[in-house]
Amino acid sequence: MISVYNTPHELHIAAAWLWIRAALKEGDGLMGVATGATTTPIHQMVARIYAAAPFDTRAIQLCAVDDYAGIAPGHIASCSERVRRQLVNPLGLEEDQALLPDGFTGQDAPRRYETEINQRGGLRLQMLGLGEDGHIGFNYPGTPMGSGAYLAQLPQSTKDTLHRLYGLPMDQMPSHGLTLGIRSILMSERIVIAVTGPRKAAIVREAILGPVNEQVPASALQLHRDVAWLLDKEAASKL
Ligand code: F6R
Repeated sequence: MISVYNTPHELHIAAAWLWIRAALKEGDGLMGVATGATTTPIHQMVARIYAAAPFDTRAIQLCAVDDYAGIAPGHIASCSERVRRQLVNPLGLEEDQALLPDGFTGQDAPRRYETEINQRGGLRLQMLGLGEDGHIGFNYPGTPMGSGAYLAQLPQSTKDTLHRLYGLPMDQMPSHGLTLGIRSILMSERIVIAVTGPRKAAIVREAILGPVNEQVPASALQLHRDVAWLLDKEAASKL
């Protein structure tokens, strides 16, 4: 399903309500979230709705699709920390309601993280953003589509972004990040991918209309039966 919104703001409202509806559904399963410029305002909208009209959050279980390995706990560059600040704290969730990658260290962290997700009932919904090169999570071009969670090598573009946004010095830059793999993402019951802005219009087209291939990791979403693409007009302009 593809939904096109006139403005990013309209997309944020629609995505927030979609997220809340899925989170409040009865049953097991985690709400997988992603961090970044696209999903932050969606999380903020969820928090605003909760502040204005509190809903029962006791059944919500969160997890994050990825995080940089080796960032100091509590540092704002950490994706886990941003999920805490954007959702866990504003929604008043207990610690055991959020399964976050910074709680997992060592070489077998990805495997343990994925096992824990599965033990909690798997992903009921995975919300994603999209990189300009087609990446989802830290699955960059060339990632094999059959992979479960793993430690991905971070490209220079991601390091530059971390440096620019959070002032992380280049000599303290993480080289890897824990990410759910394409296979793990495709195991989610539902997937929602939000994309805004003209710079992503070309990759949106490739991911939705191009062939499924490893050079465009998001093209793997064509293999899933319940994917919602939420696009603003500019991101949809090349469809
Ligand atoms: C981060 C993540 C990434 C982002 C992607 C888009 O947790 O999963 O795949 O979704 O890099 O980032 P923005 O929204 O900042 O353009």
